[in-house]
Amino acid sequence: MPRAAKRVVVTALQRMDFPAQLESYRQRVERGLEELTPPADTRPARLHEAMRYSLQAGGKRLRPVLLLATAEVFGARLNPLPAAVALECLHTYSLVHDDLPCMDNDDLRRGRPTAHRQFDEATALLAGDALLTLAFQLLGRHYAHAPEIAAALLRELAGAAGSEQLIGGQMEDLLAEKKSGVTAGDLVFIHHRKTAAMIAAALAAGALCGGVDEGNLAALRDAGRHLGLAFQIVDDILDATADTATLGKTAGKDARAGKATFVSVHGLDAARAAAAEHTTTALAALRRLPGGAPFLVRLAEQMLTRKS
Ligand code: IPE
Ligand code: IPE
Ligand code: MG
Ligand code: MG
Ligand code: MG
Repeated sequence: MPRAAKRVVVTALQRMDFPAQLESYRQRVERGLEELTPPADTRPARLHEAMRYSLQAGGKRLRPVLLLATAEVFGARLNPLPAAVALECLHTYSLVHDDLPCMDNDDLRRGRPTAHRQFDEATALLAGDALLTLAFQLLGRHYAHAPEIAAALLRELAGAAGSEQLIGGQMEDLLAEKKSGVTAGDLVFIHHRKTAAMIAAALAAGALCGGVDEGNLAALRDAGRHLGLAFQIVDDILDATADTATLGKTAGKDARAGKATFVSVHGLDAARAAAAEHTTTALAALRRLPGGAPFLVRLAEQMLTRKS
């Protein structure tokens, strides 16, 4: 197709309004999860049932939707769906382990009993391990025909999930429960790592599937860190202000566990202001992407005002 003609092509998805687009992305993610992960009767069935139990419990699918939508902004040269599924597997593993009795000790997740409640601790631990491993298996399997992109995706997701980001953030989150005098700097360190890194990786991985240049990749990582920080601040606010039924997870747990959160360190009003400020910074960067990225802009706005 000549270059000029390509620029004016408007996809069916772009013609839909925002809620319909979001629903369409979510359905793609649900289908991907169904098709690309092992069936529940794969031996050992108990393990694969537990993996699917946590994966299919719902969830907003925010990270895979961000990935798919960012891939589209950059032309989606490679099918981004396996990467989106891999990211949701990684995220779900982090939730399964986050809920374990030795960590946040939660009974409810995505409106259902947590994996260790529904099955048992060992099964939940192993299902988490398996989801983490499956993420990288999916990348290796589905992008083998494009080794440079495969390597870049592996670096991106492994970096975001590893000891210097997600796992490191989780470690410091637990240490902060026992520590007095957690500073504002400590808190940002934790939130950047345990949450923002994976959101930044969602944008970067999507862009890698679409053939992004270095400048836009750096801008996306930066936007993702602001968006992710705002996301965790809103999570802290919702824990303190929303009810369990709406959240689908136990409300009010952070204060009871003595967690360092934006609400405990800064108070509700300052937490709300910080979430708005980081969202504004992220929005400005997203608007500078090719075509102004209107879907990503709307999604980022919705992440600030979400109720669950
Ligand atoms: C929960 O993430 C964990 C945090 C990083 C705050 P989400 O709020 O995206 O959870 P799901 O995927 O919708 O269940
Ligand atoms: C997010 O922090 C942890 C992860 C990286 C999984 P939280 O512990 O606040 O997440 P929720 O509130 O249990 O979902
Ligand atoms: Mg936690
Ligand atoms: Mg938790
Ligand atoms: Mg929380």
